[in-house]
Amino acid sequence: MADEHTLAHQNGAGPTAGTGRPFYQAVGNEEAVFKAAYRQGLSLVLKGPTGCGKTRFVEAMAHDLGRPLITVACHDDLTTADLVGRYLLRGGETVWVDGPLTRAVREGAICYLDEVVEARQDTTVVLHPLADYRRQLPIERLGETLNAAPGFGLVVSYNPGYQSVLKDLKDSTRQRMVAIEFGFPAPEVEEGIVAHEAGVDADTAAELVRFGQAIRRLESGGLREVASTRVLIAAGRLVAEGLPMYVAAEAAIAGTLTDDVAVNRSLKEMIGVYLTSHD
Ligand SMILES: Nc1ncnc2c1ncn2[C@@H]1O[C@H](COP(=O)(O)OP(=O)(O)OP(=O)(O)O)[C@@H](O)[C@H]1O
Ligand SMILES: [Mg+2]
Repeated sequence: MADEHTLAHQNGAGPTAGTGRPFYQAVGNEEAVFKAAYRQGLSLVLKGPTGCGKTRFVEAMAHDLGRPLITVACHDDLTTADLVGRYLLRGGETVWVDGPLTRAVREGAICYLDEVVEARQDTTVVLHPLADYRRQLPIERLGETLNAAPGFGLVVSYNPGYQSVLKDLKDSTRQRMVAIEFGFPAPEVEEGIVAHEAGVDADTAAELVRFGQAIRRLESGGLREVASTRVLIAAGRLVAEGLPMYVAAEAAIAGTLTDDVAVNRSLKEMIGVYLTSHD
């Protein structure tokens, strides 16, 4: 079952894959912190809202450090066996198949556990000895303990906004890690990101970012999550296809942030105020 449920891919699968560096625009000192921690064999936790660049950041860091990247999208059914491996029946024979974490430990890859708090609690049993100075992966089913190959790095992410208290990261887990907090970039930086990723001109990008910032200033305003860089880019892409700005913003921003009719209406009113020049 592991492989159906565990979304693992090597660097090279995404749209930004290839030989070049994935486009990542630094927002603060996150690149220096990541590289220092990695060189010291320290594990990292990336905290921040959805769509603020965590995944892209890890892709860029893996590229800069010349390590393969193995990503696992964690979900609430994810067990230790999904990460470590299990015996499977192959052509009448029982064979051991490494899970993504074990592969990363053997290959010296960077293992990125996305939304780690979603995974079942029992996974901490294998994560703790890996995350601290031991750098070891106990594989109970094989009766073995692997020492992580040089180059192995453990990176986890989570979105503190989503989780209930029950799903918070345990203190004993977080204190084994170095934390990098992600927020949204400064406007001029985010404009550059939107222009690059959506292929729109600087004025269009600036307008979308201004609108995004107005939504972020709403504080709660009935939204679970504010407008991320990701949704601004999506709106920009629709504009690049020739759609009017307000149509793009309604579809890619207002529609994705809420299902609440009243909140949706006020977002559309904001679109009228902030994005008038293109309708
Ligand atoms: N600093 C940045 N540099 C370059 N691109 C960025 C940056 N921040 C965001 N992006 C863009 O925003 C998109 C969303 O970012 P990404 O997928 O990395 O977010 P995330 O934080 O991993 O979100 P989630 O928590 O939902 O997985 C990226 O595909 C990329 O186009
Ligand atoms: Mg991500």
